[in-house]
Amino acid sequence: MVFLKLNHLKVYYPVRGGFFRRVVDYVKAVNDISFELHEGETYGLVGESGCGKTTTGRTIIGLNKATSGEIIFQDHDLTTLSKKQFNHYRKDIQMIFQDPYSSLNPKKRVADIIAEPLRNFEKLSPAEERKKVQEVMEKVGLSPDSIFKYPHEFSGGQRQRIGIARALTLNPKLIIADEPVSALDVSVQAQVLNFMKDIQKELNLTYLFISHDLGIIRHMCDRIGIMYRGQFVEEGTSEEIYENPQHIYTKRLLSAIPNVDPERRSEHKVFREKISLEFQHAFKEYFDEEGKAYKLKPISSTHSVALP
Ligand SMILES: Nc1ncnc2c1ncn2[C@@H]1O[C@H](COP(=O)(O)OP(=O)(O)OP(=O)(O)O)[C@@H](O)[C@H]1O
Ligand SMILES: [Mg+2]
Repeated sequence: MVFLKLNHLKVYYPVRGGFFRRVVDYVKAVNDISFELHEGETYGLVGESGCGKTTTGRTIIGLNKATSGEIIFQDHDLTTLSKKQFNHYRKDIQMIFQDPYSSLNPKKRVADIIAEPLRNFEKLSPAEERKKVQEVMEKVGLSPDSIFKYPHEFSGGQRQRIGIARALTLNPKLIIADEPVSALDVSVQAQVLNFMKDIQKELNLTYLFISHDLGIIRHMCDRIGIMYRGQFVEEGTSEEIYENPQHIYTKRLLSAIPNVDPERRSEHKVFREKISLEFQHAFKEYFDEEGKAYKLKPISSTHSVALP
């Protein structure tokens, strides 16, 4: 069975202008991407700001409409389902949003925030709902007594755990985690990430992990897709991407990671200078005349690169 597979997904945002607010152009936020997630793995989606990561995630859970292409989830193309049919699968896919400060309604109590998906998809009695909410709160390490507090009464890390708890209430199979820790202090980041790894094993979750931070991606992901302006430029296992990057954009991202290992610092500096030179002189050669990435071509059974 196919767990999740995107086939030639395109998502365009219309740009309106003029007196009649007619569509004058499109932002091609996602411009023909294809990749597959296997059950139980963590797949990293990486790329600079604006390359289309969030749009990809939002489209999978139906918050954005696909312009064209397929989203196959458990053998069904989500883009062709009726609303009712879609909701059936939608329960199994949850998203943790980019910013724990704005994604939680400040006027709602934690009990209501976490219960939101339950209310949308399941009809539980108030007592059953309370029990379920307390269960997930315990699971994410929040005191079940804090059920009546408001989001501002929590720290950043705790708030992100509320977001995770909300995503877990319906026992999803796939979690799309959009920069789940980028708004947090580095000290809290590790805590939340390790926690996500623990519950992944316990609950057999599959993650689509979105981030621009390659250090975090390496810590979390089995396989990685590198996105640039709405397209993929490289895909491979973590090891292939980190040890044997092929596309100039991937190399550039890697060379920008600060190296904290003092023994490899000078080696990293040489790598950075070499990539910087290649970037200046040969960047264009990695793209066609319109500046689009080439089609991904396999260089091993797991590693593909967009080379001419
Ligand atoms: N609602 C919208 N209407 C129009 N354009 C949009 C909308 N949302 C996003 N875009 C554009 O689509 C492109 C991709 O945006 P997206 O939010 O998916 O990027 P991202 O990779 O998640 O970036 P970041 O790392 O900053 O979160 C950007 O150029 C953005 O300006
Ligand atoms: Mg984003």
